[in-house]
Amino acid sequence: MLKKIAVSDLRLGMHLHAFESSWVRHPFWKSRFVLTDAADLQAALASGIAECWIDTSLGADVAGRDDRPSPVATPPAVPAQARQAPPAAAVAPAPPQLPPAPSASLQDELRKAQQVYRRSKQAVVSMFNEARLGKAIDAEQCLPLVEEISESVFRNPGALVSLARLKSRDEYTYMHSVAVCALMVALGRELGLDANACREAGLAGLLHDMGKAAMPLEILNKPGKLTDDEFSVMRSHPERGHEMLVGGTAPEAVLDVCLHHHERMDGTGYPHRLPGDQISRVARMGAICDVYDAITSNRPYKAGWDPAESIARMISWKGHFDEAMLGAFVKSLGIYPIGSLVRLESGKLAVVVEQNPAALVSPVVKAFFSTRSNMPIPVTRIDLAQMVGRDRIVGREPPGNWNFPQLAELWAGDAAPARR
Ligand code: C2E
Ligand code: SIN
Ligand code: SIN
Ligand code: FE
Repeated sequence: MLKKIAVSDLRLGMHLHAFESSWVRHPFWKSRFVLTDAADLQAALASGIAECWIDTSLGADVAGRDDRPSPVATPPAVPAQARQAPPAAAVAPAPPQLPPAPSASLQDELRKAQQVYRRSKQAVVSMFNEARLGKAIDAEQCLPLVEEISESVFRNPGALVSLARLKSRDEYTYMHSVAVCALMVALGRELGLDANACREAGLAGLLHDMGKAAMPLEILNKPGKLTDDEFSVMRSHPERGHEMLVGGTAPEAVLDVCLHHHERMDGTGYPHRLPGDQISRVARMGAICDVYDAITSNRPYKAGWDPAESIARMISWKGHFDEAMLGAFVKSLGIYPIGSLVRLESGKLAVVVEQNPAALVSPVVKAFFSTRSNMPIPVTRIDLAQMVGRDRIVGREPPGNWNFPQLAELWAGDAAPARR
């Protein structure tokens, strides 16, 4: 039985189920385990979190405290509720608290994110290769990778997401999986989902396009537009992916996202043309994260768009996405996500290098070009939140109007991939 107790009442031997808190400050990555290590107990007590849930059927109970008010409140969401599609209005619950400020600066996290990027690429390439050979995919095996990705997102939600956007077209299919994993975790965090739901959403993002492993490579990597016949083959990838995963260790949320990430709120999606009220929350999350990473990336068939332009376009498409959820997505990445090119009132062009969660229209930018002199200027870091009345963003600037090959270096520094 799940019981809510004060963290100060936690004892060794109890089965810790979840903390009653945004899981961001969660001192352990793996919740749901029997506390056997005094150091873990110490970390829990030091966490500053007031309450937690224990499972008294799996571990010790609170001794001699049966006079406590009985904990009948609903326990934190247990995952795998994907089949019960929530009604549209219930989709974006107010988070219990705002996600905290990132604990790592973008620059610091980019270095770690680069490592995560490399390791995940290897893992995902071998997963796709095995799937192409017809081997079953063991979703649980991916959990350590999902955890590593999630930890990076929690230290700084912009780092891995932005780095993964710079993938080359050759690695698109693989790194798209990693990017959607990171985006799902970031969105889950913004929506106030608990640790397990965030982790499952991340896993679902990682595996959402496994069906592409069953697509003929000449269609998948076709440099141009697909014919109608080719596209109808492509449109079978959600079902093919679902077939690969069903019957294995994949939680319901993963199967659901795999099958339904191309459904649309207006019922025009595929494979099932589900009306919005039958598309689960996690599948709606998947649709948003999938399209954002797709359109901001260079793919075999198309160059990526600027991140801020992509956000603006997604907002303008009516009927595709859950709009409340898209609002949360924008909050998690910014109106001008990292790497966006913007024009300042002063006539400078600048790249967004960091978000200001309290003021999404006033991020930190690096100015590098003057449109007045039409010349590069010394790169200057400007926190627009500190510039009220002096300078501000007047709009997005289409990068296609310019030839700035080093934009990524302005925000990513050494972590930017070498130009190809
Ligand atoms: P993907 O490239 O990962 O794109 C995922 C989804 O992002 C697309 O699903 C679509 O909803 C959205 N998206 C991507 N690019 C654009 C765009 O330029 N404009 C708009 N409005 N939305 C975009 P969709 O269309 O169902 O395609 C599924 C998959 O089929 C794509 O995954 C890609 O692998 C393939 N595909 C689609 N169109 C083409 C194409 O013209 N050429 C090639 N080679 N592949 C294509
Ligand atoms: C969409 O609704 O997702 C696409 C619409 C468009 O490309 O204009
Ligand atoms: C810079 O001055 O380094 C930025 C110009 C560019 O991105 O090419
Ligand atoms: Fe897909």
